[in-house]
Amino acid sequence: QLKRLHFCGAALVTVALATTTWAQQPLTLNNGAPVGDNKNSQTAGEHGPVLLQDIHLIEKLAAFDRERIPERVVHARGAGAYGEFVSYGDYSALTRAAFLSEKGRKTPVFVRFSTVIHPSGSPETLRDPRGFAVKFYTEEGNYDIVGNNLPVFFIRDAIQFPDMVHSLKPSPITNRQDPNRFFEFFAHTPESTHMLTFLFSDYGIPANYREMNGFGVHAFKWVNARGEVRYVKYTWKSLQGVRNLTAEEARRIQADEFSHATIDLYENIRKGNFPSWELRVQILDPKDVDRFDFNPLDATKIWPENLVPSMAIGRMTLNRIPDNFFEASEQSAFSPGNLVPGIEPSEDRLLQGRLFSYFDTQRHRLGPNFQQLEVNRPVVRVNNFNQDGALSARRMASDVNFHASDAVAPYRTHPGYKATPVPLSGTTQQRPIQKRQDFAQAGELYRSFSEQERANLIANLASDLKQVRNRAVQVRMVSHFYKADADYGSRLAQVLGLSMDEVKAAAAQLE
Ligand code: HEM
Repeated sequence: QLKRLHFCGAALVTVALATTTWAQQPLTLNNGAPVGDNKNSQTAGEHGPVLLQDIHLIEKLAAFDRERIPERVVHARGAGAYGEFVSYGDYSALTRAAFLSEKGRKTPVFVRFSTVIHPSGSPETLRDPRGFAVKFYTEEGNYDIVGNNLPVFFIRDAIQFPDMVHSLKPSPITNRQDPNRFFEFFAHTPESTHMLTFLFSDYGIPANYREMNGFGVHAFKWVNARGEVRYVKYTWKSLQGVRNLTAEEARRIQADEFSHATIDLYENIRKGNFPSWELRVQILDPKDVDRFDFNPLDATKIWPENLVPSMAIGRMTLNRIPDNFFEASEQSAFSPGNLVPGIEPSEDRLLQGRLFSYFDTQRHRLGPNFQQLEVNRPVVRVNNFNQDGALSARRMASDVNFHASDAVAPYRTHPGYKATPVPLSGTTQQRPIQKRQDFAQAGELYRSFSEQERANLIANLASDLKQVRNRAVQVRMVSHFYKADADYGSRLAQVLGLSMDEVKAAAAQLE
């Protein structure tokens, strides 16, 4: 108990200061000793230099010097809020996850919304996917759905992620995002056509964080107590509705305020206008995985609702702004690897890479004991022998810090929690997936848009493609859109002044 108190010391002091008047509390050093003077450094007389023995001065400057931690390498700009998830029913026939096992079961959550490419102080009006990361503090450990506001992704293999992000980030020479660079990458990446169609449509600039949907993007596995597996995809449906901005509306908002989405989220929560989302799942029997003309484990694809219907399974409401932005939003660490019994990763190649990347970056960004920080700490006890390291606050009051021992076994394992076996055959390989279908769903999306939405999409794409100096890159990009839908590609070719013969010749090279 003492140790726990010690761990929470900083939080207790903050609370104490917030609830009492400042005047009653002494200003202290970090060791708790009172400070005599917070305005004048100790000096050697009237005209002499400042003394090294001024611990308060040194400590204050040293703390300030270390205030910044590395930004997230992607999704640096964001804002988080606490809330609650309520399960609509008992889904134990599908998953043994306890937080979905009972109608009305409540689970606390922390959610962080974000943009992807630009730094932590960048405008929230930019054309960019929005991150939609949810941490459920369940009684079986933390479960994270680390999703986006768009249902698919640019690539399908994690090995391409660093290249893609490099091309989208500002140029290492000019420090400016440059369509010459990212379209060169995408011209070699036809599977990005579906996601680019979403991104350059009005969905690429959501009005704010409340009026957008969220998607888990990948397939995950749900496993019930009998060990039966289903693939699932998640959608968070905004109960505020979905609203996007045109490029012109975004420019106007940005001229006034570049934190409009954070302000909107926090002001609505402060007023008691709590935003909610309904969680919907699509469920696919593994025996049906080969039934489609696309691969359902490919993150560049949706599962069309007419093929795989969805059902609502719960509702999430955000109702509390964190007391401190750094403590919660900046230090939060989400990972697709935070899983609970009954939920496992699918074989999706993009997801498999993410399982490594998040914990790895968080050890670097926040230190090896980042899971002990309040926002990341599970509500259940963590029992294992992972120990020590920088800033460990875990209590290890036993001589037995190994497994197994002859001492009374301190922590038991249970075979019921082993990973579900996956049937395999064949050899290892390094090959693209077979059913790539890079363009069909992009075409369906284009055709689902209204005439105004199509016009906006063409204008948004043309505005960036016009900046591309390499004509071959322009032609290849337009050939991808042409392959998705002839009208889509032809309209773009016309705006960019490209010859249709060239576009058709490039499209003929594509699968
Ligand atoms: C953040 C890597 C794909 C959604 C991050 C971070 C990394 C990363 C390193 C920073 C994490 C941190 O510092 O805490 C990757 C890799 C991917 C990938 C390697 C592909 C192989 C995706 C996809 C989605 C996604 C497909 C959406 C489905 C997010 C979100 C965050 C994030 C929402 C921000 C989480 C937060 O608010 O802290 N990603 N990512 N990422 N990623 Fe990914």
